[in-house]
Amino acid sequence: MSMSFSGQVALVTGGAAGIGRATALAFAAEGLKVVVADLDAAGGEGTVELIRNNGGEALFVSCNVTREADVRQLMGRTVEAYGRLDYAFNNAGIEIEQGRLAEGSEAEFDAIMGVNVKGVWLCMKYQLPLMLAQGGGAIVNTASVAGLGAAPKMSIYSASKHAVIGLSKSAAIEYAKKKIRVNAVCPAVIDTDMFRRAYEADPRKAEFAAAMHPVGRIGKVEEIASAVLYLCSDGAAFTTGQALAVDGGATAI
Ligand SMILES: NC(=O)c1ccc[n+]([C@@H]2O[C@H](COP(=O)([O-])OP(=O)(O)OC[C@H]3O[C@@H](n4cnc5c(N)ncnc54)[C@H](O)[C@@H]3O)[C@@H](O)[C@H]2O)c1
Repeated sequence: MSMSFSGQVALVTGGAAGIGRATALAFAAEGLKVVVADLDAAGGEGTVELIRNNGGEALFVSCNVTREADVRQLMGRTVEAYGRLDYAFNNAGIEIEQGRLAEGSEAEFDAIMGVNVKGVWLCMKYQLPLMLAQGGGAIVNTASVAGLGAAPKMSIYSASKHAVIGLSKSAAIEYAKKKIRVNAVCPAVIDTDMFRRAYEADPRKAEFAAAMHPVGRIGKVEEIASAVLYLCSDGAAFTTGQALAVDGGATAI
């Protein structure tokens, strides 16, 4: 599928690793200039190096998405370097397994909501005016299948991802006539550091994770990246306000 993205500009938060890195690489492979934002400078610079080694153009900006000043500066650096922002993938997120609801702490609640909800909200708050000024754009926010249903022992994470879908749908309606589309992507279990931290210590959990997906395996980061690129592409021009599950059939059961 040709997506005709050439010469355009994409921003990826959480671009130092996992799903974000794979999506930054996929945007660059389509000829986009990519701004990689993350807390992790070594990982973010690593993503930029991979893109440049493949002949692409990219820039790392250090950013904590929970801080408004950082997010404002991130959008400023993007425009300064590349003149515009066509696509944003707001993907930085954290996951903490906090046990049953009554076992979670206030600090865990604030940490998860801070990155996963406030971070996405702040990013959109500073991206939408740029896209409005240039006459359009597309935003994809990373939710999760945990944003579509229950996630036992991860209720705060689940609530945070439901919130990402609420932010995405509401913004999609508010900006629909302005040629800005906003969608969420909802991965099931994907093979990333986040997954390995959560599951690989216990092989039974890894087996259980594979079995949760009707296709019989967990997902690959590239399989989320291709969904994000589709949602940004002109092929998705009539698709906005959606929460697209990319989940090996898990939510169809
Ligand atoms: N891996 C999965 O199975 C899975 C499933 C569903 C949804 N997700 C979601 O996908 C997204 C990416 O996760 P991943 O699996 O690639 O994880 P990851 O841990 O490999 O990558 C997350 C990245 O976000 C960055 N980050 C964390 N807090 C940040 C902050 N405050 N400011 C800026 N950057 C920050 C990290 O440094 C890291 O580079 C997350 O939103 C996660 O909730 C992951």
